[in-house]
Amino acid sequence: MNIQNTGKPEYEDFFAAEDAVSDDEQSKVKWKVLIVDDEEDVHEVTRMALADFSFDGRNLEFISAFTGKEAETLASKNRDIALMFVDVVMEAEDAGLQFIKYARDTLKNSSVRIILRTGQPGSAPEKDVIKNYDINDYKVKEELTAQKLYTSVFSSLRALKNIINLNAILNNLEKLVEQRTSELNEQNKELVKLNALKNSFVGMAAHDLRNPLTVICSLTQLMMMDMAALSPDKIEKNLGMIRVSGQRMLALINNLLDVTAIESGNLKLNIQSGSLKKLIEERLQLFEFNAKKKDIEIQLTLNNACDGFFDQNHIAQVIDNLVSNALKFSEPNKNIYITLELENTKAKVSVRDEGPGISKEDQVKLYGTFQKLSAQPTAGEKSTGLGLAIVKKVIEAHKGELKVDSQLGAGTTFSFTLPLNLD
Ligand SMILES: Nc1ncnc2c1ncn2[C@@H]1O[C@H](COP(=O)(O)OP(=O)(O)OP(=O)(O)O)[C@@H](O)[C@H]1O
Ligand SMILES: [Mg+2]
Repeated sequence: MNIQNTGKPEYEDFFAAEDAVSDDEQSKVKWKVLIVDDEEDVHEVTRMALADFSFDGRNLEFISAFTGKEAETLASKNRDIALMFVDVVMEAEDAGLQFIKYARDTLKNSSVRIILRTGQPGSAPEKDVIKNYDINDYKVKEELTAQKLYTSVFSSLRALKNIINLNAILNNLEKLVEQRTSELNEQNKELVKLNALKNSFVGMAAHDLRNPLTVICSLTQLMMMDMAALSPDKIEKNLGMIRVSGQRMLALINNLLDVTAIESGNLKLNIQSGSLKKLIEERLQLFEFNAKKKDIEIQLTLNNACDGFFDQNHIAQVIDNLVSNALKFSEPNKNIYITLELENTKAKVSVRDEGPGISKEDQVKLYGTFQKLSAQPTAGEKSTGLGLAIVKKVIEAHKGELKVDSQLGAGTTFSFTLPLNLD
């Protein structure tokens, strides 16, 4: 098998060679052995002594180089060489040693096993060579009998196999660490987002709760100071104001809790069968007073046949927000049109107003949390910028669709669809 030089770490080429073949073919993939020696005989003897050698079901494939330079070219072309026998003295006194340096440092081949075979131990003393060059064994040619050669190759390849296995484990570990790191990064991003949201909640809650709380504290203090002198009418009026302030705080806290649940993925729907027409009529009763105060007429066209399955409380919240928006951002003496129609298996609810309209730039930001946009309440109503964020998530959780159709100065229509069947 001819493996191309890909410039990858050498052990990856061993895997590539193994991965590319089936078990049957495995025996055909050979351990490549590079013999570097200027004596033709040494090549011959080595090949003959190891002709029947096999380790781990694989035989040997020999490559021959007769100079240090030739060895460099062959080693850089064959990154999957498993073992090298290297002579020291060839075209230069230290040609073999220079080649070893090249293989380890330039080719960065740290796993290939290198056995230095010298005919003149005096020119490259074992102690110095082992200390200064990254070789795995040092042999004097005369002492290398066929049996010793066999043992030496066997233990070298076994060591190489351990290195390959260790590298595979290391590779897997690196992949696991990479995967875990990216999961942790994602979780971290989510936490940073939730933390920012929590901070804005605390800020907004403190700001928006302060006014109604101040009203409650001041009025109760006033009443306690002069209880006996207060007329029943005055007491009723003050209690009414205290109640409105309390309701405002409760509504804000409910919205905050909803957004928190939605943002942390904990929105739980309680799906039951119900009538959308009945629900809309019920909710509109709450707006009668405010609509009258602004002389705004609410016109209804409601289809009876829109019974289905949905979360009553959350859809009530959606209707409340769309109707309250239409009311609070419209000038007095306008109309609001609410329609309920059936579209195939879906109900479609539309709330159209004759208010200021929403610019294209504002429409992009409509569903963010705490988004108060250009349109301001026209009669001192409260605005926190949470309503539409909740509406969008609730409709999406029902697998419905929320749409806005608006132009500056030409009123706004918010509409949503709700699948009426359980899927
Ligand atoms: N019908 C509408 N006409 C014009 N502008 C609107 C309309 N509905 C919403 N907006 C704009 O979008 C913003 C966001 O609306 P949203 O319902 O999310 O918040 P809000 O009504 O200000 O406060 P909250 O609903 O939390 O009490 C509003 O502040 C307003 O500027
Ligand atoms: Mg709103």
